[in-house]
Amino acid sequence: LAKVEIKLSDIPEGRNMVFQWRGKPLFVRHRTQAEIDQVAKVPLSELRDPQHDLDRVKKPEWLVVLGICTHLGCVPIADAGDYGGYYCPCHGSHYDVSGRIRKGPAPLNLEVPEHEFPSEDMLIVG
Ligand code: FES
Repeated sequence: LAKVEIKLSDIPEGRNMVFQWRGKPLFVRHRTQAEIDQVAKVPLSELRDPQHDLDRVKKPEWLVVLGICTHLGCVPIADAGDYGGYYCPCHGSHYDVSGRIRKGPAPLNLEVPEHEFPSEDMLIVG
């Protein structure tokens, strides 16, 4: 299936859920206001792959990224690592709650796939 539909009310605030999209793990994270504020204030100069959080999300409370480490493709663990977002146990890459690489060998941020919010409670990826 090229597109996946996700009902947002199934994902509580503060939770990251894993879906499958085109055979790949897809992370959808319902971010808290504290998480949104935390990633918004990070200076781009601190980032290896500099991207503003708001250029990665369509709605601040929803982060949608592929669950594939940009180092060698392992699946990171949610809510782990030094930045509270994702941690890849294969070689120790730490990502923040915007999916941006902050520490470890991965070169790039977690990829944000095409997605849209056709209604309040619906996310379509693809
Ligand atoms: Fe994730 Fe190497 S594959 S750190």
